[in-house]
Amino acid sequence: IYETEGKVSFQQRCDNLNQTGQVLWFTGLSASGKSTIAIELEKRLVDSGKAVYRLDGDNIRSGLNKDLGFTPEDRDENIRRVAELAALFKDAGLITLVSFISPYQEKRDFARELVGDKYFHEIYVKARVETCEERDPKGLYEQARKGEIENFTGISAPYEEPEDPELVLDTDKFKLEECVKKARALLA
Ligand code: PPS
Repeated sequence: IYETEGKVSFQQRCDNLNQTGQVLWFTGLSASGKSTIAIELEKRLVDSGKAVYRLDGDNIRSGLNKDLGFTPEDRDENIRRVAELAALFKDAGLITLVSFISPYQEKRDFARELVGDKYFHEIYVKARVETCEERDPKGLYEQARKGEIENFTGISAPYEEPEDPELVLDTDKFKLEECVKKARALLA
């Protein structure tokens, strides 16, 4: 394999878009609020003229990653591919919003390394598992409790809390509006 260098730099791409390509990486339990916050933030940024793209677990898993399940190995591969995607989108100059459970610190660190620390913001969307289970918008916690879904994060599979995130959004306490504002403020 011989990688080729183009004639266009990251800086030039960003200058043309009048923004800095970067990644906001939302991690947290199912039903913690990752997608809700990312969707609202994407809308506001696009309305204000920014070039944004959002990568979301359920969406990517129904296309690019449809061959992957929820074993630790498959989750690792899921996040590895998403980290590569996020790094490419950032390199294209886009503000890239990533919302995946991404339960393992090692893989989130891998994503940070690939994207570049300066351009990577880890956001822990924090909610107690009890709260997520009460919300249960897709009925998945109920199914997991009945044993109908294996390896369910927070019930029968682990979630490693971020060790040193740029931001913690406690959705037990903060309203959507506040979460969106705090996440947006990370974009320098
Ligand atoms: S991971 O851990 O980062 O690879 O997961 P992710 O790609 O974000 O996919 C999470 C969505 O998949 C659905 N789902 C499950 N989640 C967790 N555990 C199990 N076993 C599982 N099976 C299906 C669920 O809809 C998750 O979406 P969110 O938006 O997080 O609720």
